[in-house]
Amino acid sequence: MYQAKADRYGQVPVRHAGNSGLVLPAISLGLWQHFGSNDPVLPRRELLLAAFDRGVFHFDVANHYGNGDHGGGYGTSEALLGQVLASDLKPYRDELVIATKVGYEIHPGPFGVGTSRKAVLQGIDDSLRRLQTDYVDIYYAHRFDEQTPLAETVQALDTVVRQGKALYIGISNFATTQAQEALTLFHELKTPVVLDQMSYNMLNRGVETSGLLKTLRAGGAGVIAYGPLSEGLLSERYLDGIPSTFKIHPTNQATFADGKEAVVAKLNRLNALAKGRGQTLSQLALAWLLRDPVVASVIIGTTSVAHLEDNLGAVAHLDFTPDELAEIDRLLA
Ligand SMILES: NC(=O)c1ccc[n+]([C@@H]2O[C@H](COP(=O)([O-])OP(=O)(O)OC[C@H]3O[C@@H](n4cnc5c(N)ncnc54)[C@H](OP(=O)(O)O)[C@@H]3O)[C@@H](O)[C@H]2O)c1
Repeated sequence: MYQAKADRYGQVPVRHAGNSGLVLPAISLGLWQHFGSNDPVLPRRELLLAAFDRGVFHFDVANHYGNGDHGGGYGTSEALLGQVLASDLKPYRDELVIATKVGYEIHPGPFGVGTSRKAVLQGIDDSLRRLQTDYVDIYYAHRFDEQTPLAETVQALDTVVRQGKALYIGISNFATTQAQEALTLFHELKTPVVLDQMSYNMLNRGVETSGLLKTLRAGGAGVIAYGPLSEGLLSERYLDGIPSTFKIHPTNQATFADGKEAVVAKLNRLNALAKGRGQTLSQLALAWLLRDPVVASVIIGTTSVAHLEDNLGAVAHLDFTPDELAEIDRLLA
């Protein structure tokens, strides 16, 4: 029977989500890719438990994650996490922060997508069933739904909290004005809205330039950065070149605006700077995101315990000198 390591806390620092009492490990683990029904359960279980043993107590999933619509793949990442919760992590449920989301396609028909009241209220019940838990810690609107009035989505998410099925609410992929409007509506209802989950990494600083970080700070919420390594670009993997088969997330399309060779040159310069700090490139990329307290956590994706350990090593050196930050800005320009 799995027994968590006694020294699991103290390895990874924790941070508050905005002004709330919700505390997250600086580095969280996401189950978007390679955690569906096509993937082997045992190594994934091993990874989840290795993460928990090292102080990563926040797992991020979504109802849409899995293997797409092939053989009913949507929802299977939640099911995999649910299986590990049931078999190993149940005694630790009070220590865990489990997050899931609603908004992208999950089943055919108008209520299998979006954030209408019906989609949200059905969505949470289906997620809880797959996750084998009575509540999630964070429930997100995965995207802004142009087809549903924002007030309806906000009220539905507020209902989920009042039903005791989620403790905190988040939004994801909301543009600055949408986030501002949502925060105002949530605040009117006194809904505990704490996070905007956004694509943010050294090669994609959109949340800084769009004013989103400023809006979240003013609204007492935090950002949680997804894709912090840009599909692994910000690691030692692609220092010799980026293959033509490399798939970049839609939110990172602008990364290749000047061509892949320009990105490889940038990665090598960042890698040299990382070495000077005694870090790997992934560690530098994660530490750099955490330089601002508005960033509550960074959600990494990995299938490898070695990569997990590499990434967690970031917390050994989170400080930056003003000169280092200026040099990074110059390299990223
Ligand atoms: N809200 C949203 O719309 C949204 C969108 C995308 C993602 N997310 C969330 O964010 C999570 C992470 O996203 P992501 O998977 O794009 O994150 P990521 O950590 O930026 O990229 C993951 C990729 O990097 C590789 N990698 C990780 N650590 C590495 C290391 N130390 N050295 C070399 N390669 C490394 C992984 O390969 P290996 O498996 O080989 O380690 C994987 O291919 C998702 O699981 C999901 O929870 C949310």
